[in-house]
Amino acid sequence: KKTTLLCAAIGLAVTTSTAIADPLRDRAAALFSPIPTEAPEIKGNKLTDEKVELGKMLFFEPRLSSSHLISCNTCHNVGMGGHDYLPVSIGHGWQKGPRNSPTVFNAVFNAAQFWDGRAADLAEQAKGPVQAGVEMSSTPERVVATLKSMPDYVERFTASFPGETDPVSFDNMALAIEAFEATLITPNSRFDQYLLGKADAMSNEEKEGLALFMDKGCAACHSGVNFGGQNYFPFGLVVRPGADILPVGDKGRFAVTNTASDEYVFRAAPLRNIELTAPYFHSGAVWDLEEAVAVMGTAQLGTELNEEQVKKITAFLRTLTGDIPEVVYPILPVSTPDTPRPVD
Ligand code: HEM
Ligand code: HEM
Repeated sequence: KKTTLLCAAIGLAVTTSTAIADPLRDRAAALFSPIPTEAPEIKGNKLTDEKVELGKMLFFEPRLSSSHLISCNTCHNVGMGGHDYLPVSIGHGWQKGPRNSPTVFNAVFNAAQFWDGRAADLAEQAKGPVQAGVEMSSTPERVVATLKSMPDYVERFTASFPGETDPVSFDNMALAIEAFEATLITPNSRFDQYLLGKADAMSNEEKEGLALFMDKGCAACHSGVNFGGQNYFPFGLVVRPGADILPVGDKGRFAVTNTASDEYVFRAAPLRNIELTAPYFHSGAVWDLEEAVAVMGTAQLGTELNEEQVKKITAFLRTLTGDIPEVVYPILPVSTPDTPRPVD
């Protein structure tokens, strides 16, 4: 009986050690980390149930736009990968904006927001589109008047920002939206399962793609929890793509820093759920993920990746799709006679 136990123990030790000995996973674990299963804490913005629910209502609230037609969800559709599947977004008065809409999923993990990182966090970010002429075309005053005109919102702001004398404010709108966005995270992708020890969560082809992603140098720019979203690099570091992909008029971070070396510098795009967020690049010019990977090879690495390598890397990128958060559509309060009327 003792021998059987001993054999079982040795057997277990062998299985455990083979499960642990996975050099590919060890290399990956040094560069990437899994999406957490719970919303992260945000400094200065405590996530409470009331605030997250209010933020969700505001995210879906078209009356934050002057036309009463456009909400955050118009361009960041949470039923569609957190974006709009358009090359560039369409906003107020059917105007086309200059850039592709990034997904709001996992945006909370980005070091800064927008393709050029010009907003420090989600709360600062949320104030932009509400006022942008090509997006929602409203003003802070109009937004506050709109929210104050509906008693349900006044109650919810009061409960979400307890003890404040004037809780219904533009800043608090942004904080509530940020709180909701912090819950839009996508854990449990097959890659994360692999990283956490489930060796068969990825196929051999996908693992080869992961190895290529690290060996070829993609991970130099796309790493961390979001596979990007942390640092800035020239788009076209080695070979500048043509104007069809990199339009000359959009100089990226140059507009933020006014420094010549920041011309055509953009944030390394986060690659989580990338199979759900075509078309690609800030111009939204490339619909096919394999083509986007090949463009990166040439533009950023100066390497012509062959067809097989592109296929494998793309297969790996598809393992970055996580569990999509289930969002129950909120019931919004009815307008009152005091609610500012829609304007064109
Ligand atoms: C960027 C949220 C409304 C189009 C972003 C980002 C977030 C966000 C978090 C940055 C994501 C990242 O950098 O990875 C919101 C919220 C909105 C809102 C909370 C409502 C208050 C809209 C609307 C449109 C839109 C209505 C379309 C008309 C875009 C575009 C970008 C962007 C084009 C990229 C802009 C750039 O990089 O310059 N949004 N969004 N958003 N959003 Fe929105
Ligand atoms: C964008 C993949 C290497 C910096 C992207 C996108 C993909 C991708 C799929 C588009 C994301 C989107 O539109 O949402 C890869 C792969 C690489 C690689 C597979 C290796 C073959 C690199 C390197 C750098 C880099 C080495 C930095 C030197 C960027 C930047 C963007 C981007 C700045 C945003 C471009 C824009 O403004 O549209 N990458 N990447 N990438 N990547 Fe890479």
